[in-house]
Amino acid sequence: MENKTVYLNGEYLPLSEAKVSVLDRGFLFGDGVYEVIPSYCGHLFHFQDHLQRLENSLAGIRLSNPHTREQWQQILSPLLDRNVDQYIYLQITRGVASKRDHAFPSDIPATVFAMCSNIVPFVGLNEGVKAISMDDTRWKFCNVKAITLLGNILHRQAAVDQGCAEALLVKNGYLIEGAASNVFAVIDSVLCTPPKGNDILPGITRDVILELARKNDIPYSEDKILFSSLQVASEIWVTSSTREIIPVVELDSKMVADGKPGPVWQVMNSIFQAYKQSLIMSEQTFFEFPCEFPVKAMGKAGIDLDLLVIEIVRRHVPDVKNDAVTTRPSKDGNFVAITVIIEASSKKQLDAIYQDLTDHPSILMAL
Ligand code: PDD
Repeated sequence: MENKTVYLNGEYLPLSEAKVSVLDRGFLFGDGVYEVIPSYCGHLFHFQDHLQRLENSLAGIRLSNPHTREQWQQILSPLLDRNVDQYIYLQITRGVASKRDHAFPSDIPATVFAMCSNIVPFVGLNEGVKAISMDDTRWKFCNVKAITLLGNILHRQAAVDQGCAEALLVKNGYLIEGAASNVFAVIDSVLCTPPKGNDILPGITRDVILELARKNDIPYSEDKILFSSLQVASEIWVTSSTREIIPVVELDSKMVADGKPGPVWQVMNSIFQAYKQSLIMSEQTFFEFPCEFPVKAMGKAGIDLDLLVIEIVRRHVPDVKNDAVTTRPSKDGNFVAITVIIEASSKKQLDAIYQDLTDHPSILMAL
């Protein structure tokens, strides 16, 4: 077993030492929720959307959120490695009660567990995968990302047993989603996916795809899809955070169109990869933090600009020394440039300093 560092109830410890009680309600009842959040080069992908879904799942099982969004960021960040693509598995259960009882215990802390694993590119990505269809036997709250996954597991295993990568679930004649994925189909040149509701998990990848379709003028619809209409689908895809966008090239032993990943998938997959890259680039800095960094601000001469700049910088870096500040007048003495050398701890901190400096009316320019 890989002995990586994991998070459990406020502590970072080796995986082999992370233990929960057999009375944990996650173990006894599957009484908890989870999230799977990809991280590309240390950047958590659509983190706020994942946290929003987590909040909805917690509300769905009447469990209060043990942490604020800022605290979640602080808890998960140390698990990430900036050099690899990974995903966070985060699980919250209703905690450890003193006895086994179906009804909720009162006043016990939730159990919070998080670990990070490397994303291994999915083998079927470029050639496509086989899938089977099955009657959806799961419960009525599939919009909640509950750890109680027996229904999903049995569907996925049935697919694997038949040499397939996914089971497409069907309810009352309508296509719903995959056992662990959302589903898309291209029908009459329109990219179609079932609407959100209690029947499906509101996938973050699904939402990103729809947003990218909208921005790139790819016709799409979020509407019920009759399973029978898949017979005329030119493409079928399944989507999830860990596998991304996977073309289904064979369904129930019949080829989908010509049995190859289709042109809409080719386009969407490249848009999706470019989008991921653009998010990484927008977060990337060419500094290694902590580092010495010169903050510069310019304004009109005649006011105590140095004191103003120090006051603003100290909001973010409390220990700025007075000798870290240099003041330089412009050639004709009308303007003054203040440089403050700080020990910068993050790009976020630098962005916040820059924002406060540029927001101040006496500061004409900040670098
Ligand atoms: N599952 N529907 C179901 C039932 C899922 O389990 C998943 C993902 C999705 C896709 O959601 P997203 O795009 O946010 O990953 C849809 C994760 C990966 C899992 O259980 O491991």
